[in-house]
Amino acid sequence: MKILAVDTSCDESCAAVLDTETWQLCSDVVFSHMQAMAKYGGVVPEIASREHLKALPLVIQKALDDAQVTFKDIDWFTVTHLPGLMGALLVGVSYVKALAFSLNKPFTAMNHIEAHLYSPLLGTTEGIAVPPFPWTALVVSGGHTELFHVKDVGEYLWLGGTLDDAAGEAFDKIGKCLAMGYPAGPFIDRWVREKATPEHRARFKFPRADTPPFQFSYSGLKTAVALQARKLGELTDDDRLALVASAQEAILEPLVMKVREALKKFPESRAVVTGGVACNSRLRELLPEAYFPKPKHCTDNAAMVAILSGLYAKADRLQTSPWNTAPQARFEPEI
Ligand code: KG4
Ligand code: ZN
Repeated sequence: MKILAVDTSCDESCAAVLDTETWQLCSDVVFSHMQAMAKYGGVVPEIASREHLKALPLVIQKALDDAQVTFKDIDWFTVTHLPGLMGALLVGVSYVKALAFSLNKPFTAMNHIEAHLYSPLLGTTEGIAVPPFPWTALVVSGGHTELFHVKDVGEYLWLGGTLDDAAGEAFDKIGKCLAMGYPAGPFIDRWVREKATPEHRARFKFPRADTPPFQFSYSGLKTAVALQARKLGELTDDDRLALVASAQEAILEPLVMKVREALKKFPESRAVVTGGVACNSRLRELLPEAYFPKPKHCTDNAAMVAILSGLYAKADRLQTSPWNTAPQARFEPEI
């Protein structure tokens, strides 16, 4: 079976084709709207929706061309419908629903975070071994910071998440406040890795939020960084480096600590970390026991949506969604 998957949850228009017989990812197209957002220093939801409208037909056509197939060869359409920017999601869902309807093919709506959970399995299409279930899985991106116990495909315990900002959002907002480009996460990571010393990382002791187990909070951190920057007055490059290096430690430390707490609770599980912030080299250094997918599989893509759909198909559990696209994933309440 060939699945065409689409993701338009934020500011990337993504489409991918997966062949479930050969478990081959036939195409994986990601078109970022980063340039359109750069001058605003963040994602403007309304602009993202309009960019998706322009890009999606081209991105889907490229995914078909790269896979050397046409719409006639696609057996199943799948699209993420939650969570994300409502307008952006609406574009993707409406587009894919209309395609499936016009071609008289089945269509399924998928949960974006659930898809992120399986991005480690994208490595399997390239012959990379990934840890067996159960997983202690951290999804850490611009929109989400969520910790799960993954028992099997479709079987999760949600352990906790952020009470306010996501970790990637903290990187981006701190970067914005220090007049860095958008998204600031990759830039901060590279700058700190190349130039910062342990003294830079320890110069400012920014607060770590005192949250309940497995919960995170980052909104206070960006205020603390902004206040510290104001206190310093005219900032030198060295000050800015120390500010972002110390802030990066304050963002990453709770992630590492809470993954380790969860591993203690589920000692048979293996840690996996995914989402855009999982690209961060310092996080990879601080959490050597975790499995990190390749960076290109960590950030938003449709291949992870295709893989998730393929896993459901293999388990004979891929069901068509009703037109109102109720979520298929079963996220159990906090334990
Ligand atoms: O998963 P993703 O592409 O989109 C969301 O679902 O949000 O993640 C994007 C986020 C941005 O906040 C970006 O700054 C952050 O991931 N990010 C990083 C790195 N690469 C991307 N943060 C820290 N270090 C990185 N290397
Ligand atoms: Zn995402």
